[in-house]
Amino acid sequence: MPNVVVVGAQWGDEGKGKIVDLLTEHADVVVRFQGGNNAGHTLVVNGEKTVLHLIPAGILHPGKSCVIGNGVVFDPEVFVMEVDRLKSRNALADDAQLVVSLDAHVIMPWHKAIDIAREQAMGAGKIGTTGRGIGPTYEDKVARRGLRIRDLLDAGRLERKVKERLPAAREELRRLGATPDLDEAAIVARYAELGRRVARYAADVSLWLHRALQNGKQLLFEGAQGTMLDVDHGTYPFVTSSNTVAGNAVVGCGLGPTAVDYVLGISKAYSTRVGGGPYPSELKDETGERLRKIGGEFGATTGRPRRTGWLDVLALRYAARVNGLHGIAMTKLDVLTGFDTVKIAVGYRVDGKVLDEMPSDPELLERAEAIYEELPGWSEKLDHLRSWDDLPPRARTYVKRVEELVGVPVVGLSVGADRGQTILLVNPFRA
Ligand code: GDP
Ligand code: IMO
Ligand code: MG
Repeated sequence: MPNVVVVGAQWGDEGKGKIVDLLTEHADVVVRFQGGNNAGHTLVVNGEKTVLHLIPAGILHPGKSCVIGNGVVFDPEVFVMEVDRLKSRNALADDAQLVVSLDAHVIMPWHKAIDIAREQAMGAGKIGTTGRGIGPTYEDKVARRGLRIRDLLDAGRLERKVKERLPAAREELRRLGATPDLDEAAIVARYAELGRRVARYAADVSLWLHRALQNGKQLLFEGAQGTMLDVDHGTYPFVTSSNTVAGNAVVGCGLGPTAVDYVLGISKAYSTRVGGGPYPSELKDETGERLRKIGGEFGATTGRPRRTGWLDVLALRYAARVNGLHGIAMTKLDVLTGFDTVKIAVGYRVDGKVLDEMPSDPELLERAEAIYEELPGWSEKLDHLRSWDDLPPRARTYVKRVEELVGVPVVGLSVGADRGQTILLVNPFRA
């Protein structure tokens, strides 16, 4: 019974939400294992759009379970808002569909305030975080002073932990030049109330998933962010604060590596990045503007315009290596329609040398200039096509060339935002 991991193979926003929603049909359980509401995963079903930040992208399928693992940083305000919004749209009719780990760390008000204040204090060198408190919450987790969901469920423990943490948080905010607006009694009351709302979903996720596996259920792991934003393997320090790679899927929910059978990387047919950091194939010209416009490249979480560029094969080959990709689903191929030529970055020129693999020192990337291979473009619209054979020959040549350069098969193509606008060549659950 295969279990499948879906991860972003680039800088995030590859279309993971769409692909996870699509593949949920073949799974029983969808699991988020890292990140938090820095994610923005967009699903479009019959023209109706849903953006999820925290709840797994399988939630629109009645009868399928959605699990938030211990590796996620959990903002209960956002969770409650998403639950209410889904219910108001007649989704999530059965609360048993949703399971949240008691061990997930909680994003508290000071984490958000510190995230924002730090970015402001950094000025030009800032990371460009989403301001959701992700980094400060993971920091407290690793420093062994965080609050977990189980702490919200016990009034005494919640009060003691808030009391313990507040003075240092206030001090840090003052040091950063921010005015801390953190009222202890109000925070304790609000988070106790949120704890009561979350309680019905909270469980020992490791045990829950173990039993699901014993009962022959198929799991679909939903990564957030992307490989190049991984805290170890991404373009450090311009990264998020969690491991986004496939290896973390099982750590972030309490299973072992033997639970994973297939790793699917998601990549756009070109590339985008939000926030700061090196990006050798970035286009700062009219072509980049055109990709942004046609691709609708504005962040699903912060609304920021995404930086755009051609596809980077070095980044994809690197993603294939650090995730152990079995296959790639290429999204937004439709966006490339109408370009006279399409380019693929196949090397970097750095300090007079040519590199054909991602350098391990991301500082080199700051000075890297992409070397391109150029292919003829196509003018046919793709959004109504549903089979490989119907694709224009030049679009097929492009996909095949990428496959050849990366060394991983392209097993799915997406030609529009809607669930139906997909050409699945290999079903990872049957591979
Ligand atoms: P995620 O974070 O990886 O889930 O991706 P986002 O939802 O942040 O961004 C992907 C955007 O592209 C969303 O607006 C999707 O609706 C849209 N999208 C996904 N696949 C396609 C596609 O094949 N074609 C087009 N035109 N849009 C797509
Ligand atoms: P999804 O799951 C794209 C980026 C931010 C910033 C860096 C650190 O939708 O693909 P953080 O708030 O995590 O501390 O910000 O990471 N970032 C994302 N970029 N997609 C995302 O998620 C992202 N989540 C974080 O823009 O550069
Ligand atoms: Mg996104």
